[in-house]
Amino acid sequence: MKVDVVLGLQWGDEGKGKIVDVLANTYPVIARFQGGPNAGHSLHFEGKKFVLHTVPSGVFRDNATNFIGNGVVIDPIIFRAECEEIEAMGVPVRERVAIAKKAHLILPTHRILDAASEASMGAGKIGSTLKGIGPTYMDKTGRKGLRVGDILTSNFIERYEALKAKHQKTLEQYNFEYDITEQEKEWMSAVEYLKSFNIVDGEYEINNYLANDKAVLAEGAQGSMLDVDFGSYPFVTSSSTTCAGSCIGLGVAPSKIGKTYGIFKAYCTRVGSGPFPTELFDADGEELRKRGFEFGATTGRPRRTGWLDLPALKYTIMLNGVDELIMMKADVLDTFDTIKMAVGYKVDGVESDRVPYDTYANIEPIYKEFKGWKKDLTAVKDEKELPVEFMEYIRFIEAELNVPIKIISLGPDREQTIIR
Ligand code: GDP
Ligand code: IMO
Ligand code: MG
Repeated sequence: MKVDVVLGLQWGDEGKGKIVDVLANTYPVIARFQGGPNAGHSLHFEGKKFVLHTVPSGVFRDNATNFIGNGVVIDPIIFRAECEEIEAMGVPVRERVAIAKKAHLILPTHRILDAASEASMGAGKIGSTLKGIGPTYMDKTGRKGLRVGDILTSNFIERYEALKAKHQKTLEQYNFEYDITEQEKEWMSAVEYLKSFNIVDGEYEINNYLANDKAVLAEGAQGSMLDVDFGSYPFVTSSSTTCAGSCIGLGVAPSKIGKTYGIFKAYCTRVGSGPFPTELFDADGEELRKRGFEFGATTGRPRRTGWLDLPALKYTIMLNGVDELIMMKADVLDTFDTIKMAVGYKVDGVESDRVPYDTYANIEPIYKEFKGWKKDLTAVKDEKELPVEFMEYIRFIEAELNVPIKIISLGPDREQTIIR
């Protein structure tokens, strides 16, 4: 069996949670491979809404194993709060979740370091979710980090204290005020809670699933435009959000990767700082935010909104080798008379179809206009009922991107999904 991968092709919040929940029915194993509680993946079903941060989005499906890979960073406090909420819904979360020993831990001081670093940058800040993601991955690559497997060792507290002391030295340089007394107590108790989960040798576990004919669906977090290598650096997250990241973050060989699903919204959003070529600052942008309820699932921040950006999509399809596209939130465009789409850029005055290296380049989108369909699509269940203007919109996208759109999502609920 193979690992199929679901990835966001834009700047995050494409609707990965909803689609993984929909697809989870057909996969016995759902796996997260990067990121941490900076993610907020929303699921709507049976009149309920749930936002997941660390736990994979297959947790509400019976019989699915939800695997948290070594590439993920875990804050025990957030993990416990999330699991307790899931348990309160009658879901046996401990039976459904397995955690790789090599996943790294977010310490209370990692979160403080994130806040101190952002505060020190003033207007130039990344706009981090302040969950301690950057500092935790820095300790991982700096070979100082603590991993989930370490909580089972006898000298864990000593190692925790040593890492905390290192962080405190750095915080002195920032001259940043903080008090972690309460958080630290909560963290230690959450570490005990973590011990009650199935903590496994992740790379063996995942390869065993595959050897035993269990297909794995890998769930990306963030989006490809936030990838640490290929995103709009430095306005990115600190992990590899692209398809290749699933090999590193789970411990599977590239030859084990099967299909790659690329998810995009029918328009664009971004939270935090950094370039956003098609960003709107007018009534259309406000309409997208209002109709799409574009507020961060993790931080509640209003999301920046803009038209669909084809050069950016072509770029992330290339990076990920996308086999099938999934278009989300097209219903948000239901009220628009005219819908625009960037089909190219003028970069510092020169026409180009490439995402430029220079994060600070002046990018002016070249737009194509489409007639809006002006019809409520949220109850449409069959492709044949879709208006002609809508079909023109998606056929143009398919032709330009040269990848078929296999799923169309027309509302947040599981049921509002057309599989073509
Ligand atoms: P993720 O981080 O990629 O999982 O996406 P988020 O959950 O952060 O943001 C997507 C938001 O859009 C959530 O509030 C979803 O409930 C909602 N959503 C998902 N698909 C659709 C859709 O097709 N239409 C509408 N209107 N909302 C959707
Ligand atoms: P999901 O998985 C949208 C953004 C932050 C910030 C930058 C770095 O729900 O799509 P970090 O906290 O990682 O240091 O922040 O990345 N960011 C996200 N934006 N959706 C996310 O996750 C994000 N995770 C991080 O806003 O600009
Ligand atoms: Mg999200």
